[in-house]
Formats: sequence, structure tokens, C-alpha cells
Amino acid sequence: MSVRTRVVRVDSLAPETEILEEAAEVLRRGGLVAFPTETVYGLGANALDERAVQRLFEAKGRPPSNPVIVHVASAASARALTTNWTEAAERLSGHFWPGPLTLVLPRAPRIPDLVTAGGPTVGLRMPAHPVALALIQRADLPIAAPSANRSSTVSPTTAEHVRRSLEGRIELILDAGPTQRGIESTVVDITVTPPRILRPGPITQLELAEVIGAASMDDEVERGPARSPGRVGRHYAPNARLEIVAAGGLERAQALAEEGMRVGWLALRKTPDHVVESVEVRRMPEDPRSYSALLYATLHDLDALGVQCIVVDEPPAEEAWAAVRDRLRRAAQSPTDPE
Ligand code: TXA
Ligand code: MG
Repeated sequence: MSVRTRVVRVDSLAPETEILEEAAEVLRRGGLVAFPTETVYGLGANALDERAVQRLFEAKGRPPSNPVIVHVASAASARALTTNWTEAAERLSGHFWPGPLTLVLPRAPRIPDLVTAGGPTVGLRMPAHPVALALIQRADLPIAAPSANRSSTVSPTTAEHVRRSLEGRIELILDAGPTQRGIESTVVDITVTPPRILRPGPITQLELAEVIGAASMDDEVERGPARSPGRVGRHYAPNARLEIVAAGGLERAQALAEEGMRVGWLALRKTPDHVVESVEVRRMPEDPRSYSALLYATLHDLDALGVQCIVVDEPPAEEAWAAVRDRLRRAAQSPTDPE
């Protein structure tokens, strides 16, 4: 099955009505539209149309065990998709929506099984990007939207990343330029006490705790099997092999280059002031927010250059870096790693 994929430029602050209407119509008919959010580009389908969601899974090559996040344009719409809009939901949505926070809540019966991977909960998020919000409003539907890339590859932060991954599989890509945050939303399960972070992201544990008191960190590596479906396996992975090093990044990269490999280095602290011929050096920002914003774009970039191995300076073990560390750890897993 191959469809013609149209890429349409859209104003990121004041999206054009005709373009929004066209995209909304594709969604109403059960089609697939990639659109920008403040985190990464999402691949949208009508969340209440099981066939549309089925197509979405097929386009991504996504296993049905991995639930998708449902996007809404207001807290009131979110409320209609859960059987228990809790005090925590009220507070967290009040503080962080629209924004990069996904709340896991008991699902309403009308949400198709495929969306929740058959589970009793649903992930809900109100994105902050003006194009995302305007599109959801215009379609007047809850929109299921995983990241707009083939399963297990690096998430897209530009429309071009989406096109390279999904051309021929989806109807429309709305291009509003690069996304701001660059990594996926924080996912927090508020059906348990205390609430539990299932996926670290732009909103940190500390920020959550300030609003609801306690938010324990669910660190899958320390706590054994993943509790969040779809979080197992190699995710966010570039084609290149990725290696995280505590020190000596340049030396490691040069050693690999001497073995004849094309090598990239994500440098964090120390960069040489001379050009290193054998290594693609990418100096990364020293604050986690700017680092996140650049991470996926840098990995896409190095992949496009045919780099085979990427050496990464290990980021600080601080809480503010939790999301970056999580994505790097997952990207570094070899395809055969069980976890
Ligand atoms: O920033 C984002 O969240 C982006 C943009 C497009 O909004 N979306 C995104 O969706 O990253 P996706 O499908 O790639 O990530 C969904 C992940 C799942 O792998 C799982 O970890 C968690 O969110 N999730 C979704 N629904 C869940 C549920 N009912 N229970 C537990 N975890 C869930
Ligand atoms: Mg994804």
C-alpha cells in the first residue's frame, strides 16, 4: 500500500485556516496527518476510529503492545476520555497544560483497545504548539499521536525527518519548522499513589513534586521489568551504534576512527580547539534543555552522514538530565538487548 504524501508549509504561530481544514478533513476521513508539537512531530489519527488507529500502527510498524497518547485541545476534552478525573489530574493539567506532560488515567469505554494496548488506562496530553492545538480544535476529535517516525527509530524534530521515515505511508505532513523541546513529553501515571513517572521528559520530577507533593521516579533499570507498555526494547535508536563514555570521549572516538569506522562524537565538556579530521565533532550545550532540543536533530544528522559509531560524553547524573540520560541509554541498547 502506497499513498501520495503531501508536505505543506504552515505558519507555526498563526496556522492558515484552509490548511487546517484540509488536514482536519483527512483526519475525519480516517487518514493520517503528521503535525508539529512542542516536543516532536506527531503522527495523528482519529483516536475514536479503530480503523484509523490500525492504519497508524501499520504506517509506523509499531507493535500493538505499545499504547499511543491521545491529544486533546482542552482539559474538558481530557475529562471526557477518563472515568476518573482526579484531584492530581486537575492540578497537573492546570499547571502544565498546554505542555509536554502526558497524564495516564483510567480510560473511558469509548476509547478503542488499540489505543490503550488493551490496558485499563489511557495517556492524555494537551500539546502547546499552536498548529497542534488548532488542528485538534478544527477536527473536533481526540487525536491519537505517537511520534511521526517508523517504530524504534529516532523521533522527528523536523518535517524532513518525518518525510524520510514515512513518505508513501501517510497522507499529509504539516511543516512548521523545527520543534522546540526536541524530546517527547514526560509521562506520569496518576492512577497509582504516589504518582509514578513512566517516561522522563521536559517536565522534571521536581516540577511535578512541587505541584502534587510526591512523584516517585520509576526507574526501570533499577526496578526490573518496565511497567509502561512499549517502553521496552531499543527505542530512539539511530542507525549508528551509540556508546556512552564517562571520560576520554575524543580518545575513544579517535581509536574507533583508526579502526576504519566513520565516527561521531557528542562532546559535552571538553572540545579540542583544533579540527579533528577523523571525527564528526558535535559540541553539545551544557544545559539539559538546550541539549534536549538538539539531541535528535544531531543523531539524524550524523545518520545522514553515514556515521557508524557515535561516542557520547555522559551527561551529569543530576535530576534535570534524567530525560536526556534516558533517551541516550535507550539509543545505546543493541538491537538484541532484552530490555
Ligand atoms: O511528546 C510526546 O509525547 C509525543 C508527541 C507527538 O506528543 N508523542 C509520543 O508518543 O511520544 P509515543 O506514542 O511515541 O509514546 C507513547 C508512550 C508509550 O510508549 C508509553 O511509554 C507511554 O507513552 N504511554 C502511552 N499510553 C500509555 C498508557 N495508557 N499507560 C502507560 N504508558 C503509556
Ligand atoms: Mg515514539
